[in-house]
Amino acid sequence: MPIAPFSIRYTVDPMSFEPKEEVILRTLSQMRDAFVDTAAADEMLKSGDTTIVEVFMASIPKAEGELMVNINTVYPGKVGDEYFMTKGHIHADHVHNPEIYVTVRGEGKLLLQTPDGEVTVSELAENVISYIPANCAHRCINTGDEPLIYLGFFPADTDRDYSFGKGDKRFKNIFVEEDGQVVMKLHPEVG
Ligand SMILES: [Fe+2]
Repeated sequence: MPIAPFSIRYTVDPMSFEPKEEVILRTLSQMRDAFVDTAAADEMLKSGDTTIVEVFMASIPKAEGELMVNINTVYPGKVGDEYFMTKGHIHADHVHNPEIYVTVRGEGKLLLQTPDGEVTVSELAENVISYIPANCAHRCINTGDEPLIYLGFFPADTDRDYSFGKGDKRFKNIFVEEDGQVVMKLHPEVG
């Protein structure tokens, strides 16, 4: 049974997205091991947890044939020298589940990596639409000093494989601040 036509109204300052079905938070305590400098993460956690990513999901059935939209915020900050980022994932179906991001505020990097290890980096900025092929793991990094906010559009039945960020399948690159500049480096476990 198809769902009825509807609209979502969103604003970014203050953040609102209504109606929404679900709010997903990623905190520093949850993402500690995604960052290289876990000692810096532990030091930050001594003064309390921090929200790194916030996602509002639309009220759309997660069913085949439906199209999902969400709004994603990556807050500004760093763990050690490494910028705040999303956990990163690849869509389980490498053929049928691409994604589109529309950045509405802030600036950052979109890190894409195929299962064969081919890496592409593109800019996230206002007025940019980013196409993520189905077979690319993707992670967003906030390299600015304000929230990075983007809308995501993808088949609603998309399953996410978050194990991409670990072990042999990890993202090969990290983004750090070095002498005031945004620098991409190889992850120490890769380089
Ligand atoms: Fe995705």
